[in-house]
Amino acid sequence: MKETKQQTEPIINLVNISKTFDDGAQILKDINMYIRRNEFLTLLGPSGCGKTTLLRIIGGFEEASSGEVLFEGSNIAKLPPYKRRINTVFQKYALFPHMTVGENIAFGLQIKKVDQKTIDEKVAQMLELVNLKGFQDRRIESLSGGQQQRIAIARAVVNEPEVLLLDEPLGALDLKLRKGMQMELKKIQQKLGITFIYVTHDQEEALTMSDTIAVMNEGRVQQIGTPVDIYNEPKNAFVADFIGESNILQATMIKDYLVSFHGVDFVCVDTGFGENVAVDVVIRPEDIRIVKEEEGMLKGTVESVTFKGVHYEMMVKSNNYTWAVHSTAMAPVGAKVGMVLTPEDIHIMKRG
Ligand SMILES: Nc1ncnc2c1ncn2[C@@H]1O[C@H](COP(=O)(O)OP(=O)(O)O)[C@@H](O)[C@H]1O
Ligand SMILES: [Mg+2]
Repeated sequence: MKETKQQTEPIINLVNISKTFDDGAQILKDINMYIRRNEFLTLLGPSGCGKTTLLRIIGGFEEASSGEVLFEGSNIAKLPPYKRRINTVFQKYALFPHMTVGENIAFGLQIKKVDQKTIDEKVAQMLELVNLKGFQDRRIESLSGGQQQRIAIARAVVNEPEVLLLDEPLGALDLKLRKGMQMELKKIQQKLGITFIYVTHDQEEALTMSDTIAVMNEGRVQQIGTPVDIYNEPKNAFVADFIGESNILQATMIKDYLVSFHGVDFVCVDTGFGENVAVDVVIRPEDIRIVKEEEGMLKGTVESVTFKGVHYEMMVKSNNYTWAVHSTAMAPVGAKVGMVLTPEDIHIMKRG
C-alpha cells in the first residue's frame, strides 16, 4: 500500500490520561498513545480493564481526571461530544424504533438543517456503503441484528466524522454473523478512509481487523503494535497469554543467549536480561515439535488429544508442567514423546 504523509501522522494523541471515579477506584493509569490518520486501531483487553472508559474520554462523554486528549495537536478535553470531529457506534445500537431506516440515518443531517435533496442523496449513499441499498423505507424492527448494526454504522458515518469510535459493535451478533461483519466493517473503513478506534475483548477479532492493537490490562496499555508484532513478540506474560494460548514458565536467564528451565539449558536469541536472573518464558503451542522420546530436549507423556481440523491439540505432561502442543502429527494418549524447541520460538520476558 502507498504510504502518504496523510496516513501516518497522528490524528489523536493521548497524553498521560488517568481516570479515577468518585468511588476512588483508579480505572485508567497514565495512558500514553497516539492514533494515526486512517488507522484501524483496536483497544483489546479483558472485561473491566477500562476500554469503554478510554473510548468515552476520546468521544467526550467522560472527562479524564488528568492528562490531555489532543486532536491534530489541540487539546479537546473541554469540547462536548457534538463539537468533536468524532462519532460513536455503541454496542447497543440505540436506533430509533419508531422511525424508518432512512429517517434514522438522516437524523443528524436533519438537526443540522441540511436540505432534503442532499439528505436523500446521502442516505442513499450510506445505504449503498453498508450493502442495504433500497432499505430506506423499512422499519427498524423488521431488520435482523446484523442489518440494524449496519444502519447504526451508516447513521454514525453520514456526518462524515474523521474518527469513528466503535465499542464492541459486534458483541450482540452470533459467531457467524460476526465473522461476516468483521470483513464488512474493515471494507467500510477502507472505503471511507477514516480513522477507526475499535474496542473488543476478542483477540481473534482484533488480530483479524486491526492495523494496530493496543493491549490493555487493569487500566494500563501493556503493548502497542501490529497484530503480527503483538502475536510474535509479546512484551510480557499477560499479553502472551491474552493474545493466544501459550505455555508460560518460570525460568532463569543464565546469560545472554542461554536460558534454563525444567533442568535443561536452552539456546535462545535474547540478550540484555543480565546473568542468573529470574524471567518468564513463553512458548506457543504451535512452535513445539513432537519427536521420538530419545530425540527430545524435554520428555513427557501425552495426557489428551483433541482433533481440531487443521491440527491436533495435545496436552503433554513433563516435569510436573502440562504443555499445550498444537501439531499436525498425532501421538496417542499415554505415549512417551520428546519435545524440541528452536531458539527463535523461546520468548523471554521480564518477570512481571
Ligand atoms: N461511572 C463509573 N463510576 C464508577 N466506576 C466505573 C464507572 N464506569 C466504569 N467504572 C468501572 O471502571 C472499570 C472499567 O470499566 P470499563 O471502562 O467499562 O471497562 P471495559 O470496557 O474494558 O470492560 C470497571 O471496573 C467499571 O466498574
Ligand atoms: Mg466496555
